[in-house]
Amino acid sequence: MKIQENISLKEYNTFGIDVNAKQFVEVNTLEDLQQLYSMNVLQDIFVIGGGSNMLLTGDIDKLVLKINIEGKELFEEGNNKVIVKACAGEDWPKFVLWSIGKGLFGLENLSKIPGNVGTSPIQNIGAYGVEMKDSFYKLEAFEIATGKIKTFYKNDCNFDYRESVFKNREKGKFIIVNVYFELEKEGEVNISYGVISKELQENGIINPTPRDVSDCVVKIRTSKLPDPAEIGNSGSFFKNPVISADSFRQIINSYPDVPSYVLEDGSVKVPAGWLVEKSGWKGFRKGDAGVHKNQALVLVNYGNATGAEIISLANDIKKDISKKFGIDLEIEVNVV
Ligand code: EPU
Repeated sequence: MKIQENISLKEYNTFGIDVNAKQFVEVNTLEDLQQLYSMNVLQDIFVIGGGSNMLLTGDIDKLVLKINIEGKELFEEGNNKVIVKACAGEDWPKFVLWSIGKGLFGLENLSKIPGNVGTSPIQNIGAYGVEMKDSFYKLEAFEIATGKIKTFYKNDCNFDYRESVFKNREKGKFIIVNVYFELEKEGEVNISYGVISKELQENGIINPTPRDVSDCVVKIRTSKLPDPAEIGNSGSFFKNPVISADSFRQIINSYPDVPSYVLEDGSVKVPAGWLVEKSGWKGFRKGDAGVHKNQALVLVNYGNATGAEIISLANDIKKDISKKFGIDLEIEVNVV
């Protein structure tokens, strides 16, 4: 393990923003973390997993830890339930395919979400009617202040839509090292999301397996979402806003085609992508910062955009949507 000085983080964040870390170290094992703890260098750190949900807006004047701890296994096998364990540095999409290869139900809708296993609980990643929390069992995290491992069960994590304690109360206090998921040998796939059931139907699949659903998700994501290997981005840049039934009535009066999901308490979730598109921003480009042409919820870096340029674009979009719809969009990615 070697602490390096003045390293560019461009290849460590999927937005492809070129900022420097004052110091940088790759953590390959839990022992590496313990060693850094005994070296007394963990007071002021910044942790990177897959780098897929962050926007870097300036140099990081800290020690950056890139978490690469790898390993995955069937941890415990019951009659139907199976607990799988994956280390934080495992690539999320490969981990999902591995679980599908074992014939397990649970993660198929979360196929192809860029990022690492260790960061998946922080924002409770979700797609196509499923969230990570639905299969989450527990995680083990390294407490930076004490060097001790602490276990968090589901109830300890306060998971919500793109939320958890690791974005709030416990922010910056822990490094997640292992995540355990409870999957099933025989289960039911969730094809409640319209585009999935439509795609399956078009392919004549009547009793879909997790593999069938995963294939569909991969196909849909590939067609809509830009691949960070080709064009810098962090997936959805904004959260889908939740508005009151009254505010929604006003919008639907002017825009009868507005898509919506009514929540249990009567409030309404409106797709931010639709709001951004309706406001004319889809495909917009200024310098190297832009709004993706197929999915208006994704801001992109065409090459050399800075974090400040992406934020400036995001603020212009936010202002415009606030003016047109009276809705305040909330940024979903972690702005650093
Ligand atoms: N829409 C538009 N224009 C657009 C984009 C979307 O009109 O440019 C409309 C669509 O027609 C559709 C609705 O918005 O009626 C929803 O769009 P989509 O199914 O593409 O999903 P989303 O709400 O834009 C969310 C997640 C995605 C996740 C998809 C699929 C958030 C912030 N985003 O996007 O997650 O993959 O659902 O479940 O909740 C991510 O978090 O990075 C991410 C990609």
